[in-house]
Amino acid sequence: MRSIDLNITYEHYANIEELSETDKNLCEMAEKALESSYSPYSKFRVGTAIQLESGETFLGSNQENVAYPSGLCAERVALFSIGVMHPDGVIESMAITAQTNAFEITKPITSCGACLQVMAEFEMKQNRPIQVLFYCLNGEVLKVNGIKSLLPFVFVEDRLVASL
Ligand code: THU
Repeated sequence: MRSIDLNITYEHYANIEELSETDKNLCEMAEKALESSYSPYSKFRVGTAIQLESGETFLGSNQENVAYPSGLCAERVALFSIGVMHPDGVIESMAITAQTNAFEITKPITSCGACLQVMAEFEMKQNRPIQVLFYCLNGEVLKVNGIKSLLPFVFVEDRLVASL
């Protein structure tokens, strides 16, 4: 037996003023996307904005349902609509933020495992890392370059991967 250490790297910003103009705009768009969140059950709004290489941006927000598991996270709402609208689009970066009146969110919220798995599939498909910005409305931002840093043990089985 041997134990193996994995290292992940992420960037930490104290506030969005430290970001590039492009990243700051994307965080602000994610904040704007919170307005469309349909979250009457959790009362936890999540918003995302995705920047394509073409310059186009897509928004997403969490969409809940009275049959709880039928709802979908903000990230997958946006990613799947890109899959429909721009099946060959290349994603450069995405920003994610959250808001609730129920308590104070003091740290950037990070995406759930299912959303990370979907992000990883888009990354595989485009063969290029996706930058992810997790933005807390207090200003703090975490940034990673590539989903591997977030999901090092991503599920992938080469014999199941679609030949594109
Ligand atoms: N949610 C997201 O939109 N993204 C995530 O990565 C995690 C959770 C949503 C799902 C649900 O509507 C609410 O947040 C509370 O879990």
